[in-house]
Amino acid sequence: MGGPAGRQRYGEARRLVRIAILIGPKSAGSNMRAIAEAFPPGSPDAEVVRVVAPSAAAPGLDVARRLQLPVAVADPSSAGYAETLLRMARDDRWDLVCLAGFLRLLPPEVLEAFPRRVLNIHPALLPRYGGRGMYGRHVHEAVLAAGERESGVSVHFVDREYDEGEVLHQLRCPVLPDDTPETLASRIRPLEHQAYVESIRKLLADPRG
Ligand code: GRF
Repeated sequence: MGGPAGRQRYGEARRLVRIAILIGPKSAGSNMRAIAEAFPPGSPDAEVVRVVAPSAAAPGLDVARRLQLPVAVADPSSAGYAETLLRMARDDRWDLVCLAGFLRLLPPEVLEAFPRRVLNIHPALLPRYGGRGMYGRHVHEAVLAAGERESGVSVHFVDREYDEGEVLHQLRCPVLPDDTPETLASRIRPLEHQAYVESIRKLLADPRG
């Protein structure tokens, strides 16, 4: 395992992979829920051990609490954010970090502590329609404005740039002639949940992961 907590790799000896989910200030928490429901407490291969929100007002925190997930608040713009995350990672023994609606770059120290162990979900087919400012409705508006016939979701490893890390998994769907950003988003949303869970399973199954 690549995190600071362990040395084993995914897939070895059916070790439980401990997942942390970092949500954003406006996250509805739907990807978090999908991951938590796919790997509930007592599941043999993975479980969610922490949800970290950027503020106590993040709506996703309520979703996490209802799911009985351990929560924490850490402000990404505060001094000491990296140390706070790394301390949590040590205390909770994180193996894998999943970003779900987290709109910032992660501090380099955190990325270095989790090589190929930080994932993000993006609601379009990267490498197109990603990058700074490309989130939520903006992504779907850009896809529609370009006249694309197809969109989808991408799960990728996170690096020091927005949406540029290696793509691990993609799912595709059509863009229909009368689509609006909202109808496209609602077609894509369930694919996000499916793709995120499939990506985690892919990592769990791949001993070189
Ligand atoms: C999703 O659209 C995801 O693709 C993007 O942020 C949104 C988070 O939604 N990165 P939710 O909070 O998981 O419902």
